[in-house]
Amino acid sequence: MARTIPHLEELRKMDRAHHLHPFTDHATMHPSGTHILESGAGCYLQGEEGKLLDGLAGLWCVNVGYGRKEIVEAVAKQMQELSFYPSFFNSTTEPAVRLADRLGRMAPGNLNYAVFSNSGSEANETALKIIRQYQILKGKPERTKIVTRDFAYHGVTLATASMTGLPSCQTPYGLPLPGFLHAPAPYAYAMGREKEAEVYGEECVATTKKLIEKEGPETIGAMFLEPVQGAGGVLVPPAGYLKAMRELAREYEILFVADEVITAFGRLGAWFASAMWNLEPDLMILAKGLTSGYISMGATIVSQPIAEVLMKGGYFAHGFTYSGHPVAAAAAMANMDIIEKEKLVERTKEKLGPYFQKKLQEFAGHPAVGEVRGVGLIGAMELLPKGGRKDLRPGMNLGIAGAAKVRKEGAIVRGIRDLLAFAPPLVITEKEVDELFGAVRRGIDHLWD
Ligand SMILES: Cc1ncc(COP(=O)(O)O)c(C=O)c1O
Repeated sequence: MARTIPHLEELRKMDRAHHLHPFTDHATMHPSGTHILESGAGCYLQGEEGKLLDGLAGLWCVNVGYGRKEIVEAVAKQMQELSFYPSFFNSTTEPAVRLADRLGRMAPGNLNYAVFSNSGSEANETALKIIRQYQILKGKPERTKIVTRDFAYHGVTLATASMTGLPSCQTPYGLPLPGFLHAPAPYAYAMGREKEAEVYGEECVATTKKLIEKEGPETIGAMFLEPVQGAGGVLVPPAGYLKAMRELAREYEILFVADEVITAFGRLGAWFASAMWNLEPDLMILAKGLTSGYISMGATIVSQPIAEVLMKGGYFAHGFTYSGHPVAAAAAMANMDIIEKEKLVERTKEKLGPYFQKKLQEFAGHPAVGEVRGVGLIGAMELLPKGGRKDLRPGMNLGIAGAAKVRKEGAIVRGIRDLLAFAPPLVITEKEVDELFGAVRRGIDHLWD
């Protein structure tokens, strides 16, 4: 049921006058005004549209659901004890140390050291700088170029937006910067190759190899890769693809970075996709699910050999005022306690993930659906116009239209180009999965109206 928010129109007026929103078309938003959300509990949000089931966990991040008292209490306690102290200049705080220790012990392989920041973008930017410094210290200062992929999303700073493979994030800013190379993404559906996705994946690896050889492997510092590409459209890698990309990096002594900002902390039914798919990354990027979005935090997890080179390399002149913020670290610890205590990783792997995927698969064959794909508690649905695939045109944005219809039916999903993306909180129940896909069905049944 819709709710009356006190001061709603006044808030919207102030918002129009003074607030530039991230990733928003203001000309489209302003006539009706922004949506204001007021409260959240579990998988549900409450705002002026009434109660909404959040099928995107905020922005792929609220893994433990909204309103978790354990995190609120841990944060309040830390704020009372010590609201802030930096980790600069030989000092730190207990939560920052405990979190670094926990991440170092949990992270796969030899990923043993955490460099903290405030976001996924900062964690990737930090990785870029560490890689530069490492290559210089190893006597390879010419290894400055970075390989990523089309449809990648690694952030929005100048350098990380250059790694991102989405024209919408680059064209307005005259990016990418020189030295950022884009290999093809294994997006078989977009090429009409979904029936032979593995073959297409092999072709993508071969094209990446050619790109590396053309540029000169000795000029390339690292390859960044999201195990499942999230914001680019939930692109699930075909069998064999990630392993082959990992091998390619190893063959040319290019550092391999797993950007797990979305995929870590249980989303795929494992603490880390890197462990699940045996990627053995040299660096791993964390944010979002690290604190379930309760407070901002990012982390760049660095392998033992790289950390050793850095530690012997003199002064480490990088870091943000709030790197390892004690309040954020306390939130991360409480968040990870919940994930462990409620066995959210195991639950996603064994129960809710398979159930969610089964329900998603039921849309295959729907006249408005061209493909469904997913793994664990993340998924996507490619939408079609009335005339079918042959009538798909760039800029139709069926996903945006579809998401608006689904929202009217009571659930938030994300529209990206012509697809819908889903990533509900990991605490979702089977009944709530049914409710989510019920809203999706009612929405897309009317997609062409
Ligand atoms: C894989 C990945 N990397 C990096 C980022 C950037 O994170 P932030 O928005 O916290 O800067 C995102 C955000 O969606 C992401 O999905």
